[in-house]
Amino acid sequence: MVTKEFCYNLPKAELHLHIEGTFEPELIFTIAQKNNVTLKYKSVEEIRKAYNFSNLQDFLDIYYQGMSVLIHEQDFFDLTWAYLQKAHEQGVKHAEIFFDPQGHTARGVSFEKVITGISGALEKGQKELGISYKLIMCFLRHLSEQDALKTWEEAKPYLKNIHGVGLDSSEVGNPPSKFSNVYTKAREAGLFCVAHAGEEGPASYIYEALDILKVVRIDHGNHSLDDQQLVDRLVKEKMPLTVCPLSNLKLKVVEDLSKHPLKKMMDAGLLVTLNSDDPAYFGGYIGDNYFEIAKTLNLSEDDLKLLAKNSINATQLDQSSKNQLLEKIA
Ligand code: HPA
Ligand code: ZN
Repeated sequence: MVTKEFCYNLPKAELHLHIEGTFEPELIFTIAQKNNVTLKYKSVEEIRKAYNFSNLQDFLDIYYQGMSVLIHEQDFFDLTWAYLQKAHEQGVKHAEIFFDPQGHTARGVSFEKVITGISGALEKGQKELGISYKLIMCFLRHLSEQDALKTWEEAKPYLKNIHGVGLDSSEVGNPPSKFSNVYTKAREAGLFCVAHAGEEGPASYIYEALDILKVVRIDHGNHSLDDQQLVDRLVKEKMPLTVCPLSNLKLKVVEDLSKHPLKKMMDAGLLVTLNSDDPAYFGGYIGDNYFEIAKTLNLSEDDLKLLAKNSINATQLDQSSKNQLLEKIA
């Protein structure tokens, strides 16, 4: 049986992490008080009790409420710094993290405050904790492509701080093809593209993400297993999938962790990686995801090393930086 210590100490990259999903109830309360925002919850315990989700939308409703207390640049800095300390404790050497600018600009918070706060903490994390990073701007797929294009224009002065674009929020009914124009603009500007696909949506959304959005990774991708031709293609193209076991459990993508398809995905030869998604809401950071799924599926130390190596190979780092990190995995 692998230990928690082994899982935490394994050098790894985190590739599927929404920074707003790292907002712990204690910090929500602290920042709400500082900003004179009244919460509908009276205590940290009451917030945690509300974290009982039936599906993705149930979670998203609470996730947007949580992030609505973030107003000042310092709030975004504090949020990001708190995550980086957790990530450091759990073996993260490189993080490619998402942020949701439309969740903030729609409330009147400037794009500049959001990006400056997050980027400041990421820089500090690189210097003081040795965590290298890339920042991925996500478009909210329940909103229009017009809204995404407006956000793209707002982001333009800050593109030196933004390395990739992603697609998140309510998946079913909002296929990747809805965002083809804004993705083309991002690609032409030199950013890399990823997208959530196949978490609740069908395998056809994964094809669209590959063929229309030209993604370099699929976020989640669970429903690829419904289509053997798609699996064969993902294996052949060494297309990374950023799998999130505790998220899948909490959002009922799987009914039980023992039914999680991770092992099936590994056996099929897919380039799977383990990630925490929204750790403050789903009950664990990345090392906890490694540990819980290893315990449940009886994974070996070698299995976990392979998953950690996959995570490094699936980054957008250059090959020599990848090699430096790979050497750390004995
Ligand atoms: N799926 C879609 N949108 C999200 C998620 C997720 O897991 N987390 C935060 N926004
Ligand atoms: Zn996600």
